[in-house]
Amino acid sequence: MSVFYKSPLNYIGGKYKMLPQIMNFFPRNTNVMYDLFAGGCDVCINVNTDKIFANDINFFVVDIFKEFQKLTIEELLEKIDSLIKVWDLNMTNKESYIKFRSHYNSLPVEKRNPIELYVLVCYSFNYQFRFNNKHEFNNPFGKNRSSFNPKMRQNLIYFHQKIKSITFSSFNFHDINLDFLEEGDFLYADPPYRITTGSYNDGKRGFEGWSVNDDRELFNLLDELNNRGVKFALSNVTEHKGEKNNELIEWKEKYYTHEINYNYNNSNYHSQSKNYQTKEVLITNYLEENNDYENFRLDSKSRFVEKIKSRNGDIQLQFDF
Ligand SMILES: C[S@@+](CC[C@H](N)C(=O)[O-])C[C@H]1O[C@@H](n2cnc3c(N)ncnc32)[C@H](O)[C@@H]1O
Repeated sequence: MSVFYKSPLNYIGGKYKMLPQIMNFFPRNTNVMYDLFAGGCDVCINVNTDKIFANDINFFVVDIFKEFQKLTIEELLEKIDSLIKVWDLNMTNKESYIKFRSHYNSLPVEKRNPIELYVLVCYSFNYQFRFNNKHEFNNPFGKNRSSFNPKMRQNLIYFHQKIKSITFSSFNFHDINLDFLEEGDFLYADPPYRITTGSYNDGKRGFEGWSVNDDRELFNLLDELNNRGVKFALSNVTEHKGEKNNELIEWKEKYYTHEINYNYNNSNYHSQSKNYQTKEVLITNYLEENNDYENFRLDSKSRFVEKIKSRNGDIQLQFDF
């Protein structure tokens, strides 16, 4: 039985948990895969094609992956171990974590070390990747819980191997030229969902928020790709907490909609009232249902353990790495 590889980041909006479902609808034979909103790369590292492109506007995350690519795995692990030692990081030493975080944030953005950021994330609350509007990493300490543990190390070793041949970029999707994509190539789009609040799309994290105009421009781009015979799959939600994305609901009628059975609200925090329903969908411009992934499993050791309520009331997933 095969497994899906897990990103070494617990990226908000990451698709790891949904991979067995969404990948059943991915095209079987394609030479090029373009992950337009790649985030933590949970999706693209699990796709087997000759050429993979991964883009995300968040240059902090892209810089970490580019830095990983420059180093051998031995060099990377050595750097991480040395930072942990120098800054005296462990699961209980909050003071060291705060000092390390202040050091990282004190540097101008262009001088910051992406490996330091990765190590910070490893000791932070729920391993999350969170910045404020001043581009300061502001995730609190992951007391008694987060550390660069053996499981993280193992995930990183797999991940490092998988990203070797990926071409990374960090552009706003509005500015990307996708003219080189040809008939039969495949683009996956996992944008911020306009009617949910992820901390990457509230406009308060040093990156612009996601608006209805972004949705519309993305739909135009996907229509254009469709006209050229490029295959696409779009993840999104049509309904969340009683709100509907009507533009999406209307636009998707031209294509195929696959319901993704994943309910964020299966927890004690919320009643199962209709108002709290989240309807997650995958929209494709082709129909190809292959059950190749039926026998795949999520790597059981990085299991999903609980749902926690964030400060803004949203439910987030907590992984035990
Ligand atoms: C739902 S997350 C993607 C998660 C990813 N599929 C994964 O599994 O980790 C959406 C991503 O879109 C990125 N993003 C937001 N606005 C963008 C834009 N205008 N252009 C490109 N990327 C953008 C965010 O930084 C975020 O990483």
